[in-house]
Amino acid sequence: MSTIPHSGSDWGVKMILERYIEHLLKDGKLRKIDTSISKNLEIASVLYSVEPMPALFENVKESDFRVAGNLFCTKEQIADYFGIDVKDIIPTLARAIENRSQPETIDGAPCQEVVREDVDLDVLPILLHTELDGGPYISSGVVVAADPEYGQNLDFHRAMQIGKDRMVTRVVRGRDFHKFLERNGEVDVAFCIGNTPEVLIAAATSVETGVNELEIANALKPIQVTRAKTVDLMVPADC
Ligand SMILES: Cc1cc2nc3c(=O)[nH]c(=O)nc-3n(C[C@H](O)[C@H](O)[C@H](O)COP(=O)(O)O)c2cc1C
Repeated sequence: MSTIPHSGSDWGVKMILERYIEHLLKDGKLRKIDTSISKNLEIASVLYSVEPMPALFENVKESDFRVAGNLFCTKEQIADYFGIDVKDIIPTLARAIENRSQPETIDGAPCQEVVREDVDLDVLPILLHTELDGGPYISSGVVVAADPEYGQNLDFHRAMQIGKDRMVTRVVRGRDFHKFLERNGEVDVAFCIGNTPEVLIAAATSVETGVNELEIANALKPIQVTRAKTVDLMVPADC
């Protein structure tokens, strides 16, 4: 699930996913849903029924944000984003792991165009996926964390909203983030949503602890990073 701001709002910079969605729409590869729909069960149900067709929900009952889903749920969609054949995905990723490179650091990143001091997660259309879930879930959030010796790491960790300003997340033993928690106790994180495939694919790799997956992302296709506002971490500028 990716969250995109309304176009035509005060957001000056168009994010990469927003431009990608426009490209899908133009090519007839995305279902646009204008009717009012709830983030509780309804959106997840429609996404499931149209899968793997990407969908954009323009009018979410509980939020001013739009929701896009099913954007990158097949290898074909990933290959299309990178402009390569499906058979070249693994070799491309292998080359990126071998040839990691530093992303450009910028100020004024799209991810920081709106900064809210008061944390209210209810503003975001976090989906309730099934009746059995304990709450709304962010299903593909990328956690950026750091360790004094190993530096930065990227992992996926599903997170369930349990209050206006609290989430719980599943951290499997053996993940680099789990190692960081064992070594350091409490660890600051940046929880990034609306990521581009460069970052999604890099975060899904299990490479040696100490490899910063943002450098793999940059080798896949150049990305930009920016310093997070409240924690000492570099995050994808476009998320
Ligand atoms: C969509 C998605 C959701 C995931 N959710 C979780 C999760 O909730 N908890 C977890 O520990 N790993 C989860 N993973 C797996 C790890 O994040 C992933 O294997 C990662 O590459 C581990 O990286 P590491 O080797 O740097 O620790 C998920 C992976 C994906 C692709």
